[in-house]
Amino acid sequence: MAALGGCALVPTMGALHDGHASLIRRATGRGLPVVATVFVNPTQFAPHEDFARYPRTLDSDVALAERAGADAVYAPPHEDVYPRGLDAARTEAAALALPEVARMPGLEDACRPGHFGGVCQVVARLFDLACPRLAIFGEKDWQQWRVLDAMVACEPGRWPGLRMESAPTVREPDGLAMSSRNRYLRPGQRDRALGLVRALQVAAGAQHPHTAERLMRETLADHALEVDYAVVRAAGDLMPVSGFERPTRALIAARLEGVRLIDNLAMPICR
Ligand code: PAF
Repeated sequence: MAALGGCALVPTMGALHDGHASLIRRATGRGLPVVATVFVNPTQFAPHEDFARYPRTLDSDVALAERAGADAVYAPPHEDVYPRGLDAARTEAAALALPEVARMPGLEDACRPGHFGGVCQVVARLFDLACPRLAIFGEKDWQQWRVLDAMVACEPGRWPGLRMESAPTVREPDGLAMSSRNRYLRPGQRDRALGLVRALQVAAGAQHPHTAERLMRETLADHALEVDYAVVRAAGDLMPVSGFERPTRALIAARLEGVRLIDNLAMPICR
């Protein structure tokens, strides 16, 4: 991996889809070898979550990554990523100092405590191994993107020359945000899952964040989804907002019979 120093890195957990392909395509043409990583990171899953059943499709991942323009796929064994073992890695993840945006009340940390510790740990480890010049993350995981961008900003000099970039969410023709977890949905659940994007679209017409939040909750309830959160926040630091004067983001996490779905949308600026 050290030989890959200077690459463009696209970290993934595999089960690649067109959303990942768009990240890989974006990384091409930058004069850097493009490396996609495939690693289902155990430290970012709580014991009751879907680590064991998370789809593992390495052969098709490699094929998709190559078609999208990746020069290499790095799918490390656990020992490469966590040489001190998984128990030690879990302890270290829990003790990591995280950027403030990771702990923002009412968002992912409230529902998945410890999740961002594992995410920052594995991404930092991959950066240490690969020394990338460019790293690209999808905007579907908006808070993750803000957390990782803040993580790099908090450690100037640790990854010299690293540029962090995000790429827009890719959607299915019906509007559902592409996600590896969409494979968990049964055909009959699809229309209910579309409640997330419909809620975001309804919110985009609101004149005030509180109205947007109420409209999102109503739309999610109409689709019989259990809401973890449906909020409007400042796009950068995810602080609560009282208007749409600066860039804001509507963010939703909701559960459909055990399948957890997330999505988000930039809100129009109104002055
Ligand atoms: O977004 C993901 O797929 C994962 O959280 C990441 C960034 C690859 C870390 O495991």
